[in-house]
Amino acid sequence: MIFRGYDNLMVAARQGSPLAIGYGDGEMYVGSDAIALAPFTDRISYLEDGDWAVITREGIAVRDRAGAAVERPIARSLAAGLVVDKGNYRHFMAKEIHEQPEVVGHTLAHYLDLANYRVDLPALPFDFASVTRLSLSACGTAFYACLVAKYWFERWAKLPVDIDIASEFRYRETTMAPGGAALFVSQSGETADTLASLRYCREQHQHVLSIVNVQESSIARESDGVLPTLGGPEIGVASTKAFTCQLTVLACLAIAAGKARGVIGPELEAELVKALVEVPRHMATMLRDETPYETLAHSLSKARDVLYLGRGSSYPIALEGALKLKEISYIHAEGYAAGELKHGPIALIDEEVPVIVIAPRDDLFDKTVSNMQEVAARDGKIILVSDADPASTGCEVQTMLPVPTVHPFVTPLVYAVPVQLIAYHTAVFMGTDVDQPRNLAKSVTVE
Ligand code: G6P
Repeated sequence: MIFRGYDNLMVAARQGSPLAIGYGDGEMYVGSDAIALAPFTDRISYLEDGDWAVITREGIAVRDRAGAAVERPIARSLAAGLVVDKGNYRHFMAKEIHEQPEVVGHTLAHYLDLANYRVDLPALPFDFASVTRLSLSACGTAFYACLVAKYWFERWAKLPVDIDIASEFRYRETTMAPGGAALFVSQSGETADTLASLRYCREQHQHVLSIVNVQESSIARESDGVLPTLGGPEIGVASTKAFTCQLTVLACLAIAAGKARGVIGPELEAELVKALVEVPRHMATMLRDETPYETLAHSLSKARDVLYLGRGSSYPIALEGALKLKEISYIHAEGYAAGELKHGPIALIDEEVPVIVIAPRDDLFDKTVSNMQEVAARDGKIILVSDADPASTGCEVQTMLPVPTVHPFVTPLVYAVPVQLIAYHTAVFMGTDVDQPRNLAKSVTVE
């Protein structure tokens, strides 16, 4: 609040959404987070829920909900040195898509011992060897990163996973054995439902680990352990590089879990780490030529509904692809597990409906192809995202989006890129506001 006639007074209060105070030289700032204040100062403190502050150019007095004077520590923010502009790109989203080889590389370098092909994680708040279950919870794109991780933890660490959307988890009143392990994933670290789920887990005496892109965020501050993604600020509302960085950390964590649980020996560890190390190069290859995506955008933009299909760890990528498309192009899109096709969505298929099939040549490839054939038999327009030869599928493929052949462990990381490009180019062709799609917020800090 500012007051007419008082040019040296601001009053600020925090409830729910974060509120950062910036300390300048004879000037003070109030903002939503450190990134917003980065152009002005790197000295930041955060108000707690219920705090209110009286701010003048000379300083600040903070009181808590009960009216007692309190001090909130001032920290040097990491955000100030970060450049937040579009560079040579038309949109932040394009820039962020293209940053992925670099930021995924940074994140890998942080969590891997590259000289010895080993994972190298900081101390965790729980021991994977003794946990019997891992609870994962998040919202939106971060939830789909968790869904990929479920496949990884179960396949490569033999660790059962309980996963839920945070807005559901927080009200489920699930019983949790004390001492269990809970993991939360959030780009902003401020999503209200994810934070509420974290607090529920604390009440249930769980060990709380989080993966966040904003290290000073509420979720980070309330966790027992934090694994940062090194994505840098993500400005586009539709999450891209934060997603692949989340996947990167989760992949490293899954390997660490597999090791701790005796499922992954040194040889397999080296194999999986090598596969991860190759990811930035494969991403860069796919980003070299976007012409097929620009061409596809013409026909996709005319669709009323688009279906995405995938199996195994490609199923969450189908969900993420559909989410990206609907977020920024406003075309109705659904992601489906390919095997569910015949339990409903097949009824929608005709020559008008594009079906985007995410089908790496892994051990589920033949199963996915048989679903594709069901689509082809009903004249659906198939767009195949794969490293396979389209002729080998026995279907008429309308558009082929080739992907390099990679280790099956890392397919979600690599196949995330084409689904982002499909959405981006379709939205650009349609002329929507790609970075700020209607009705959406970058960070949902209220319920
Ligand atoms: C909003 C954003 C999404 C994001 C989701 C979760 O819906 O538009 O891009 O995936 O929130 O946000 P978080 O910051 O918790 O990852």
